[in-house]
Amino acid sequence: MHSNLASTALLGFAAIAAARPYASGQWSGSSTTTSSAAIYSPTGSSSTGQKAFDFPLSNGFPNVAKGSQTLEDIEIQAHGQLSNAPPPPSPPHPDSLVSLGFIAFNELFEVAFFTELISNITNNVPGYDKIPNRDHILDILTIHQAQEELHELNANLAFNAFTGQTIQPCEYIFPVADFSSAIAFASQFTDLVLSTLPDIQTIFGTDGDIGLIRGVGAVIGQEGEQDGFYRDLIGKPPAQLPFLTQGARDFALSAIVQGVAVPGSCPSLDLLTNPDQRSATKGATPLKVFDVLTVVTPASDFTLAHDITASFKAVTAQTTGPNTQTLSTEQSSADLYITYLNQVNVPLSVPVSNLAIDAASGALMFEAVFPGNSSFLAGLTIVAVTNGKDFSSPDAVAAATVFGPALIEID
Ligand SMILES: *[C@@H]1O[C@H](CO)[C@@H](O)[C@H](O)[C@H]1NC(C)=O
Ligand SMILES: *[C@@H]1O[C@H](CO)[C@@H](O)[C@H](O)[C@H]1NC(C)=O
Repeated sequence: MHSNLASTALLGFAAIAAARPYASGQWSGSSTTTSSAAIYSPTGSSSTGQKAFDFPLSNGFPNVAKGSQTLEDIEIQAHGQLSNAPPPPSPPHPDSLVSLGFIAFNELFEVAFFTELISNITNNVPGYDKIPNRDHILDILTIHQAQEELHELNANLAFNAFTGQTIQPCEYIFPVADFSSAIAFASQFTDLVLSTLPDIQTIFGTDGDIGLIRGVGAVIGQEGEQDGFYRDLIGKPPAQLPFLTQGARDFALSAIVQGVAVPGSCPSLDLLTNPDQRSATKGATPLKVFDVLTVVTPASDFTLAHDITASFKAVTAQTTGPNTQTLSTEQSSADLYITYLNQVNVPLSVPVSNLAIDAASGALMFEAVFPGNSSFLAGLTIVAVTNGKDFSSPDAVAAATVFGPALIEID
């Protein structure tokens, strides 16, 4: 419904689009090592024996009442306030409500991550115990954590005002085990958020909910400020690209569900993937959780210096979402492409080759060209396996996606 306008925005307002992907699962090729490329390849989040992060926080979050002392304390820690503007007078479009729910879903994960990171540093957990400028970094992360709490409350209070429902948190396991990998991960998931929020603004605009656009813009800028700090900490230029890579809600949702949420631990996922269940969101486009796409080629092979042929692996029914695809023989031989979203360029599709089904695991193995040099795929690239090619917008890519996202990030 919104893909036509989204493509207009892409072509007409390329200069104002912004984007970045999300990551989780197996984090190979940390940017702090010799490689300048990083890959996000989810392998499922529950296999490590790590203890899952669980809400509520010690201040009761996410259960915080408007006007309460707890909210005031969070605002002081955040160096600023939750907006006091009233909700829009009439209910937003069902797609806009689902988007607000998605934002809350995402921000809950971010609050969990920064809370656990602060705890690891504060408690001198091995890998987090020898950080230069420790106190300065803790001060900054503590501000960011409270700011994420306010982002979450802002979206969830609006979602609740019109649906009567609140997005509840999942349990999470993060694919990091030391300070550098944690900051690199924070940068990459912030990239994914930054790819998604402009998609949400586009959907708001398409659906006539212009009153919601400004607040999301205020969050985009804020997340960009955070990301510059994380990138500087891991030795990258604070600003990644002139125009950040564009994404779509389904990719960010899939990345969270595939990579950091403990399978089956998200009580509110249904509100996003089956919006027709509730009258307030009836008719909304359901969000999708795709099957898992893994990059087999090592991160260090991805470069702007030359094009490469990369290897991929796609696995069906690994996710907990209701929309898992079933790999059929038709699918394995059909019109499959790898589609790359990079910067604010038109989505780029390349054919897959050497398609084979691994007899032992049942995984779909294949290769595709990654034209890092000839297409100048700098910064974040969101990778999806699509049925078809020649897409005009990220939403059109998501609509045709079978597996994804994988995230490839060169500097
Ligand atoms: C915190 O430390 C534990 C133990 O090393 C690790 O498993 C977890 O992923 C870390 N979390 C973050 C957010 O750094
Ligand atoms: C692509 O390769 C050519 C030839 O090596 C090089 O001059 C050019 O800078 C490369 N492009 C990028 C974006 O790195």
